Amino acid sequence: MSFTFAHISDLHLGNMPKVSFLQLMGKRLTGYLSWHLNRKGHHRLEVLDALKEDLQKQQPDHICITGDIVNISLPNEFRQAQAWLEDLGASDQLSVIPGNHDAYVANTLNLWQDTDFPFVHKKDGVAFIGVSSAVPMPPFIAAGKIGDEQLAKLAQILKETESEGLTRVILIHHPVQHHRKIWRKSLWDTDALKKVIKENGAELVLHGHIHKPLFEEIEGKNGKKVPVYGAGSASLYDPKKGHMAHYQLFNVGKGQISVSHHVYEPSSHSFIQTDIHY
Ligand SMILES: [Fe+2]
Repeated sequence: MSFTFAHISDLHLGNMPKVSFLQLMGKRLTGYLSWHLNRKGHHRLEVLDALKEDLQKQQPDHICITGDIVNISLPNEFRQAQAWLEDLGASDQLSVIPGNHDAYVANTLNLWQDTDFPFVHKKDGVAFIGVSSAVPMPPFIAAGKIGDEQLAKLAQILKETESEGLTRVILIHHPVQHHRKIWRKSLWDTDALKKVIKENGAELVLHGHIHKPLFEEIEGKNGKKVPVYGAGSASLYDPKKGHMAHYQLFNVGKGQISVSHHVYEPSSHSFIQTDIHY
């Protein structure tokens, strides 16, 4: 029997709600301006509608979302996001982690109020392990950090789920290798994360953040390689640069994991399965 799951990321849900002057104080002001001057044209709700339609056709057993659901972490953005996610699937069918845009400022209502990271969702022989790299940062910094406490728990979870014979899928917003040298966008404790994965192994790592598909390999346990797949943005519409929304579909069966890629095609207003050349 095989199990399929979709990986989508970086929705940047539009419909920016009305914002008060007080709410724009601090980092939100730069994010708000960036949304209206730039991002608004490139992240489209109609593309997300097409994605939802495609997922309804594909009928994956589970859906993983690796962050940047909203833009500047306004309480009303999270309320809209909650409704969008409820329409996408039942809560036990979704594993959702935050990205840097979901932790734009500290102490705001969000979707993860009652979530301890890393979480583990076990479904049909697969363990989805959700790690948060989302921490509030100063303006113009989109970096991420996991922290020692989460890393220690992650090591423990990887050990336990390995002994249970589960296929371990780590979800994290920031890429493991990419952006490594770009301080303001990278995962600051990536070396510590790689050490945990090298010591304990994992079958797959999924991330978002860079808004284009990415594939890398990192070292796992006993010399085994661990595939790392990045999903593009699920709402992206940028014909000038030729960048369109992307999501990926994984199939787990008989110890093997396969992937297919699905990219938004404006002419048919639908997602088309296609090969990706990294
Ligand atoms: Fe993003």
